[in-house]
Amino acid sequence: MVDSEASEDERLWQWVAGYAQQYRSSLGVRPVAAGVDSRAIAQKLSELDALPQSGKPALECIQELVALAEPGITSMSGPRFAGWVVGGTLPAALAADWLTSTWDQNAGVGEGAPAATAFENAALAWVAALLRLPEAVKGTLVTGAMSANFCCLAAARGHLLEAAGWDVQQHGLFGAPALRVLVGNERHETIDKAVRLLGLGKRSLTCIEADGQGRLRPSVLARELDRCADPVVVCAQAGNVNSGSFDSLSEIADCVTRHRERHGPSSVWLHIDGAFGLWARAAEPHAPALAALADAAERADSWATDAHKILNVPYDSGIALCREPRSLRRAMETGGAYLDSGQPRTTFQPGLLGPELSRRARGFALWAALRHLGAAGVSELVARYAENARCFAQAIGGQAGLRVLNDVCFNQVVVLLDAKAGTEPAAWTIQVVRALQAEGTCYATPSSWHGRPVIRFSFCNATTTQEDALRMAGALGRVIAEEQARE
Ligand SMILES: Cc1ncc(COP(=O)(O)O)c(C=O)c1O
Repeated sequence: MVDSEASEDERLWQWVAGYAQQYRSSLGVRPVAAGVDSRAIAQKLSELDALPQSGKPALECIQELVALAEPGITSMSGPRFAGWVVGGTLPAALAADWLTSTWDQNAGVGEGAPAATAFENAALAWVAALLRLPEAVKGTLVTGAMSANFCCLAAARGHLLEAAGWDVQQHGLFGAPALRVLVGNERHETIDKAVRLLGLGKRSLTCIEADGQGRLRPSVLARELDRCADPVVVCAQAGNVNSGSFDSLSEIADCVTRHRERHGPSSVWLHIDGAFGLWARAAEPHAPALAALADAAERADSWATDAHKILNVPYDSGIALCREPRSLRRAMETGGAYLDSGQPRTTFQPGLLGPELSRRARGFALWAALRHLGAAGVSELVARYAENARCFAQAIGGQAGLRVLNDVCFNQVVVLLDAKAGTEPAAWTIQVVRALQAEGTCYATPSSWHGRPVIRFSFCNATTTQEDALRMAGALGRVIAEEQARE
């Protein structure tokens, strides 16, 4: 409803608020997959003027945008979206995100945006407390866990090379001492990308054998570290992107401690990629066994995680944290007299710790999510994801031709299908994924795990119920039966 007495701007805000409300309420009932592909949208866009020479009123323009875009919108924040690891959107966080755009603060200028800076510090301190990390931990908000891995590994690189007598900020990497990065065979690809972006090259990686659930084997890590005289980063993982499994962080931290005792305190840096898994630590007191999967995470030097998956903050909300921020600050330092706001710095400036200069004030939405849920609410939420995943896995396990391949320890379920006679398993899996998405009840995505084509289901939406989980399992069974019957 748009008030005809309102000004042009007011009419725009009213219309958008009404549309957003209607879209949000449709999330539980509309088909989860987008109705058309990007080519169909591109075709519609190409039918408009190549470049409009004259503009049009904002409301008309936004109505046109919605008409053109909506057919291609996937209900990613709906209760039965289980693709990749994509969280939903808490209303409090979404509202704060709208305000973030309304206020349009540049969080990269510290005291020029005092509320943005203070809220980011406060939200990061809450995250550290919730995840039971050391009190002195500091960090910054970035786009996602990819960026967070990059920031943390940049800090690690600078710290270890400095201890080896090399200032990488001054001299770069040509002629630098060798730096090794020990990673599990089933690390997330973003670790490799971060290592490449940091100029270390893939050859600096040593891959450590993983077990059947994708957990790095600490005994193999210990052997590799014993052979390692160079400065070394150890990357552990909390939450395997397929199985959801957790590396044994306490055994890994023990290996790191032993290495330090032999080679010096700055010989090794322990980083944890806990994009979604680190939040398991918040499951206390609702699910202590789940929380215990990430025990000893507090012994690391840096942590990459995000709030757009498990916590259901809208994109983008990556979190990079370091035990002590000096190395992060050195890695991300930037100059420019014009950047001074003229005001004295009164608090810690997280805007100086990231790779960006100008950027969104990400602290407001994160703060609102945590203020809304409280520690108890986050604990309940994280525990609920695990219950939904177990409920789904149980329902899948009861269906012929379907097998859950992973130990469902958290929110991820990996499903293997018996292929239809005469069809290759990979082709069959893709056929079923497409049919499942087209059917509309839910959305899951394909993967390959231990050389087998699988479908992954990820439970990290606050609005998903056990009934949704059962509907998803039912839809999968139904779609497979239909595809089996197809000529
Ligand atoms: C373990 C792990 N690390 C890193 C990432 C990358 O996160 P983002 O997409 O937020 O950059 C993911 C994404 O699912 C992940 O599961």
